[in-house]
Amino acid sequence: MIKFVIIFIGLLLFSINGFGSVNNCMSCHLDLEDEGGSASKFAKDIHSQKGLGCADCHGGDPTLDDMDDVRDSRGFRGVPNHLEVPDFCARCHSDATYMHNHNPSLPVDQLAKYKTSIHGQLLFSAKDKKVANCVSCHSVHEIGNGQMPYSSTHPSNLPATCAKCHSDKDYMAEYKIPTDQFEKYSSSVHGQALLERGDLGAPACNDCHGNHGAAPPGVSSLAAVCGVCHALEAELFEKSPHADAFLENDFPMCETCHSNHDIVKPSDKMIGTAESSLCTECHAADDGTIGLPTADSILTSLNNLVLAHLNAKQSLDEAILKGMMTTNEEFLLKEVDQSLIQARTLIHSFDMDSVAPKAMEGIAKADTIIVNSAGLIDEYYFRRKGLAVATLIITFLAFMLYRKIRKIEQK
Ligand code: HEC
Ligand code: HEC
Ligand code: HEC
Ligand code: HEC
Ligand code: HEC
Ligand code: HEC
Ligand code: HEC
Ligand code: HEC
Ligand code: HEC
Repeated sequence: MIKFVIIFIGLLLFSINGFGSVNNCMSCHLDLEDEGGSASKFAKDIHSQKGLGCADCHGGDPTLDDMDDVRDSRGFRGVPNHLEVPDFCARCHSDATYMHNHNPSLPVDQLAKYKTSIHGQLLFSAKDKKVANCVSCHSVHEIGNGQMPYSSTHPSNLPATCAKCHSDKDYMAEYKIPTDQFEKYSSSVHGQALLERGDLGAPACNDCHGNHGAAPPGVSSLAAVCGVCHALEAELFEKSPHADAFLENDFPMCETCHSNHDIVKPSDKMIGTAESSLCTECHAADDGTIGLPTADSILTSLNNLVLAHLNAKQSLDEAILKGMMTTNEEFLLKEVDQSLIQARTLIHSFDMDSVAPKAMEGIAKADTIIVNSAGLIDEYYFRRKGLAVATLIITFLAFMLYRKIRKIEQK
């Protein structure tokens, strides 16, 4: 009886399944695999979520219930090897009509771009099996997109995805490139912002290298790379005397001063004529340019602004401590902060005439704060004196009143 019920339920399930799309691939593979196999991972895969099944990629007839029959059935493609994967994926992803029917906004240029990358070039021309192919970056059977937190290409996971190979010294031994990109990146301003503070505005590897053209950006394209996010600095640089000079000398525009992977938080030490300054790496006092004099006067005006800011803050703090009403001055101090930030950005003009006015503006505001705060502090002491006199008078009156009351009582 129990056997009969089980068979009946089995048949029922089969027929329900039969009315929909029969997918023996999924059910049989789920049965044979333990956790972590292709079929059990597949629910997380974007292809599964968009309604695609095993047979869409691997081919074969999903209504068959024997793997040998599946292998012999129409269109079975089996498992692509490392070199075959790009074409395996591109069968759909480079097919504009097919992709348009699914998602018109998805680009269809991944294979074309991949072919321009060092990865693609080595894979296709040198049959190199160690370079990244589509699944090295996207994983397989649990492919996500850049918005899914668990995806290997989500910004916070991507650096580790690249580092799997690029930080593996043994794996990369035969290639003559460094293996420190991830390490340096992780401690850079960008890596810390993205990996430690979860700031998705900071670049992961692919924001600089491109998703599929993972080549080092050339000298000319570097401007565009940093400038995508740091537009002001790039714009100033383009108009500066360095624009042509760097191009002629093949100096990459931002990387020359800031590096690429281990970008640190900039400071005023990087400018000026001291040894710690970047300017002295290329400029000398007798090089016939106004490089160092400019560096010197920019640093002087930054220093003046920093000092003015400090003095303003101290006077303001004193006024605040004395409980004075300082809303306007606090607002003004924020504007001085702003001037300092802008002046430091303006150094990318490498021109005193554009830094100086901003510094003067900040210094003038700082002076106003100092004058106003001093006024408020004077007012405080004036009020305190007033309070002392008032207290004296009140005490005197109270004493007189007391005497008067005593007199009345004695009477
Ligand atoms: C009745 C169970 C069953 C069904 C149905 C089934 N498979 Fe398999 N599949 C297997 C077994 C067993 C293997 C061999 C696993 C091994 O060798 O470890 C296999 C292997 C594979 C492989 C590895 C390559 C190869 O040729 O060995 C792929 C890819 C695959 N199946 C895809 C599919 C697809 C796609 C479908 C549906 C069209 C499907 N399978 C249907 C049981 C099944
Ligand atoms: C988006 C396309 C795609 C889909 C959908 C897909 N596969 Fe695969 N599968 C691949 C690729 C590519 C490989 C080769 C991976 C590699 O090179 O590491 C592969 C490899 C395999 C292998 C070989 C062993 C392994 O895990 O690497 C098996 C078995 C397999 N797939 C079964 C399945 C089954 C079962 C399904 C459905 C649950 C499925 N695949 C869905 C693309 C796909
Ligand atoms: C059978 C056709 C087909 C094959 C083969 C295929 N894909 Fe897809 N892929 C799709 C479809 C359809 C979507 C979903 C598009 C949508 O609706 O957003 C998709 C989505 C994706 C996405 C998410 C895109 C996004 O930003 O939303 C990635 C990444 C992806 N595929 C990578 C791969 C990789 C890697 C391979 C090879 C292992 C592969 N695909 C093979 C059809 C395919
Ligand atoms: C070096 C790593 C890497 C390789 C190799 C790679 N991708 Fe990508 N791919 C990415 C990253 C990073 C993104 C952006 C994040 C996202 O959308 O998943 C991306 C995005 C995508 C997208 C979403 C649409 C788009 O273009 O932004 C598709 C589809 C895709 N890749 C398919 C492929 C296919 C097909 C291949 C092989 C020809 C491939 N990828 C090779 C890293 C890679
Ligand atoms: C499967 C391993 C693997 C993965 C994953 C991988 N790469 Fe690569 N990559 C290589 C190999 C191998 C080379 C070839 C080294 C060479 O240039 O000779 C290479 C080359 C490069 C180059 C060119 C280096 C040069 O100047 O020659 C860049 C840039 C690069 N990869 C960036 C990336 C980025 C960014 C990612 C992640 C989105 C990534 N790679 C993921 C293995 C990998
Ligand atoms: C802020 C932009 C930026 C980010 C983020 C970035 N790179 Fe780079 N990377 C560059 C530039 C620029 C070069 C070119 C170096 C040159 O030509 O001198 C480069 C060069 C490379 C090279 C060539 C070898 C070398 O070290 O010079 C590899 C490999 C590489 N990057 C991998 C990565 C990986 C992996 C990540 C993420 C962990 C990453 N990059 C993050 C900008 C970036
Ligand atoms: C995808 C956008 C993006 C790209 C591309 C990018 N950056 Fe950044 N960068 C940021 C963000 C966001 C921060 C702020 C990080 C933080 O919160 O500390 C930052 C911070 C910096 C800082 C530190 C600023 C400070 O005041 O602390 C420098 C210097 C810098 N980037 C230089 C570069 C250079 C050079 C490149 C090109 C090689 C580059 N960036 C590419 C987004 C980007
Ligand atoms: C990587 C090398 C390099 C660095 C670092 C560098 N410069 Fe220059 N700079 C040049 C070159 C090359 C020229 C063009 C010289 C010429 O015209 O003969 C130049 C020109 C200038 C000029 C125009 C000179 C003139 O006489 O018209 C100024 C101003 C200048 N740099 C300021 C600076 C400042 C300030 C710094 C530090 C923040 C700096 N430079 C850092 C290479 C550099
Ligand atoms: C000649 C050297 C030099 C070049 C080239 C250069 N910078 Fe700077 N950069 C500096 C110096 C010096 C500072 C430090 C300013 C300070 O804090 O006093 C700085 C500061 C910064 C800051 C932090 C201050 C701010 O602007 O918010 C960012 C971001 C930055 N640079 C981005 C870039 C980008 C993007 C490029 C390429 C377009 C670039 N830099 C090119 C020397 C340079």
